[in-house]
Amino acid sequence: MFQNLILENCSEEKGFIKSDHKKERRIQVMFAKTEWIKILTECRNNVQKKIEPLLRTINKPQPDLGLGAGGDPTRKIDVTAENAIVDVLKKSKITFTLISEESGIVEYGESPRSCYVTVDPIDGTTNLIRGIPFYATSIAVSKKPSLKTVHAGLVADLVHGTTYTALRGRGAYRDNGRITPSQETSIEEGVIGVDLNSYRIRQLAPRLTALMSQAEHIRHFGANALELCYVAEGIIDAFVDIRGKLRTTDVAAASLILAEAGGILTTPEGQPLDVKLDPKQKVEFIAAANAKIYDRIFSLVKAQKEQR
Ligand code: IPD
Ligand code: CA
Repeated sequence: MFQNLILENCSEEKGFIKSDHKKERRIQVMFAKTEWIKILTECRNNVQKKIEPLLRTINKPQPDLGLGAGGDPTRKIDVTAENAIVDVLKKSKITFTLISEESGIVEYGESPRSCYVTVDPIDGTTNLIRGIPFYATSIAVSKKPSLKTVHAGLVADLVHGTTYTALRGRGAYRDNGRITPSQETSIEEGVIGVDLNSYRIRQLAPRLTALMSQAEHIRHFGANALELCYVAEGIIDAFVDIRGKLRTTDVAAASLILAEAGGILTTPEGQPLDVKLDPKQKVEFIAAANAKIYDRIFSLVKAQKEQR
């Protein structure tokens, strides 16, 4: 029964409106949607439990585990966190396709194409290894391997124990409290996240100088999923990543959380962000708290781009 409900919510929900038992089925689907938050929360709890013993020795030399599907070196902590998530999903008898920065694309159960679970087991691995207290786990659930079909998402701040969640159409939450982005409209007074972490900094810098010379408070903390949630919650007012380097696994859950909070997320060209969910797929974006600050940032980044 429980598995059927989850499956129903992952797939197209067809027959839901036509059914004679429309009301009952609506209640079932609503139940299934909220069940996802329970399951994602269990995943988070298991990640926390399983990585805890590793944190004590994390700054010691680590075995070479090769490259993950996203192209970065895999560490034991990343694999442990991914296994912790997969174990919970399997125990919950969910049949799904995993899209992970570490293992890549792996099918589980009998009808894996009915549900896609996109995971960045640890976002901010370098922070974690260096003891910088800013890293997260990110899990998104979708009907198709595309960003616009994500209907449930969780980003858990593993240092401070806070968790951001969203269900499509139901708002975004930090723990039990609803969140909304800030009303800040000034680039000068706002706090603007900019990811400059790129070997292509010479090409990138001219596109960002107009924005960065106006903003007085530029930040980058090193875990982009969490930084997008900071925009959703109003801790920072915008976050710009136009490096062409970030993987979709890092934004899958946070993009829903930001949208449900009421924030704005577009490509640097101003189009709605919709990309394939794939560990190799890269993504660029401008995320902002509200339309006014978004318009100002967009025009500065765009103006620079036209000058190239
Ligand atoms: C990294 C973080 C970081 C960003 C990198 C990402 P990871 O994620 O989000 O802030 O600058 O591009 O790769 O590798 O720790 O999952
Ligand atoms: Ca990662």
